[in-house]
Amino acid sequence: MLTFVLPIYSIDKNMISCKNITKRFGNLEVLKGIDLSVSQGEIVAIVGPSGAGKTTLLQIMGTLDKPDTGEIRYENMNINQLRDKELAAFRNKNIGFVFQFHQLLPEFTALENVMIPALIGNKKFSEAVKQAKEILDFLGLSDRLEHKPAALSGGEKQRVAVARALVNRPLVIFADEPSGSLDTQNKEELHRLFFDLRKQFNQTFVIVTHDEELAKLTDRIIHMKDGKIGKDFG
Ligand SMILES: Nc1ncnc2c1ncn2[C@@H]1O[C@H](COP(=O)(O)OP(=O)(O)OP(=O)(O)O)[C@@H](O)[C@H]1O
Ligand SMILES: [Mg+2]
Repeated sequence: MLTFVLPIYSIDKNMISCKNITKRFGNLEVLKGIDLSVSQGEIVAIVGPSGAGKTTLLQIMGTLDKPDTGEIRYENMNINQLRDKELAAFRNKNIGFVFQFHQLLPEFTALENVMIPALIGNKKFSEAVKQAKEILDFLGLSDRLEHKPAALSGGEKQRVAVARALVNRPLVIFADEPSGSLDTQNKEELHRLFFDLRKQFNQTFVIVTHDEELAKLTDRIIHMKDGKIGKDFG
């Protein structure tokens, strides 16, 4: 029985796995052989000094950039083998992003901003409206649907950005300094939201952060320095 159970656990364990990821920009070796796995439902923090390569790693794990060498697998799929168009479709369906500055489109309302990834994913307009409203409602924004970003507070803008990341029910959300531009109260609310989303939807997060309070709350802290990860850093 045990031999049967163990392999199933190990598949679940490595929802995302990176093997020996390297990346250089010109002469600068930014990632020097990163091995990292993330399980479903896990909230992982990546911490480390400025220039350590955190954003570069997040962008590569999130398929926005390509490694020079190494392999990235989502469940059992090697994404290095996907062509650009397939990769874009994979990203739209499976990956959500939250950045330090919300990056909402200023000409569109909160509802429209959240609908866009669903429409790109070929959802019917009515279905996109429904899904966007549901998720905005869950994030306590149902009375802000028609506001454009300029008419939202910093905390509200960031919650709309989280809603946009969630609308296609992605496997994983990558967040790069998500609370870096928020005041203490909004920051704490956003952090609480991540853990609520994990509880409700088993949502997986990989979060780059300088915020020690947030890092301490996560399941695992990955320390990064000079393009490497290791327990001894930080
Ligand atoms: N597109 C690029 N072209 C050239 N160099 C780059 C590029 N992107 C990043 N770098 C360099 O790679 C190194 C790592 O950058 P990265 O943005 O990953 O760091 P970081 O750990 O996210 O830092 P921070 O905490 O300041 O955001 C830095 O020295 C940076 O200048
Ligand atoms: Mg960065």
